[in-house]
Amino acid sequence: PKAQSLAGVRLMLTAGPTREALDPVRFISNHSSGKMGFALAAAAAELGAEVTLVSGPVSLATPAGVRRLDVESAAQMHGVVMDHIDTQQIFIACAAVADYAPKTVASHKIKKTSADTMVIELTKNPDIVANVAALPNKPFTVGFAAETRDVEKYARDKLSRKKLDMIVANNVAKAGQGFNADDNALSVFWPEGQTDLPLAGKTELARHLLTLIAEKYHDTH
Ligand code: C5P
Repeated sequence: PKAQSLAGVRLMLTAGPTREALDPVRFISNHSSGKMGFALAAAAAELGAEVTLVSGPVSLATPAGVRRLDVESAAQMHGVVMDHIDTQQIFIACAAVADYAPKTVASHKIKKTSADTMVIELTKNPDIVANVAALPNKPFTVGFAAETRDVEKYARDKLSRKKLDMIVANNVAKAGQGFNADDNALSVFWPEGQTDLPLAGKTELARHLLTLIAEKYHDTH
């Protein structure tokens, strides 16, 4: 088979934001559109992989040939990933997972009071990609880093701290790329090297990134 083919390889991705409920009608979330993760899922399917896409709430169509599992919260995303990870050979964590969730979810809508301030207590969510990379039989694990400064320093730190095989950094501070944009530019780091993927549409960029991931995966398997 061609070096960059992923025929028969089982690949799981997370994509989109998570929603952390405060009460039945409110949640904490972020601006992730899921575009990059969905483009990566499509590119992986094109390379022949058996793709499972674990997605937070997004308004995007499921790419052709991709199995999609929808979740809302980080805890649900963690549960679904862990339920299926055993059989996966590559894991790509593209989701913008909320770092914290409200400690308690009110069972009824929280009422406005006469007080001018309100305190919400938060607890840390599980780090999905770090938990996957800590598995004894871990898949080739790729994480993302959305940094606004010192991109390489923070990306390399995350690579080693979370025991990832590769990390993909985008500079979210630059206009027209990153969150919710159609174009993106990426810097990719792995333990022995790095490369830049210049500004391009997310579809094209996803193909370049998946080819690189396939290459590095085959180098080590
Ligand atoms: O530590 P930070 O959130 O910046 O790391 C980003 C990377 O970790 C992304 O790949 C993201 O999908 C993943 N992540 C995760 N679970 C979390 C937080 C981040 O999988 N709870």
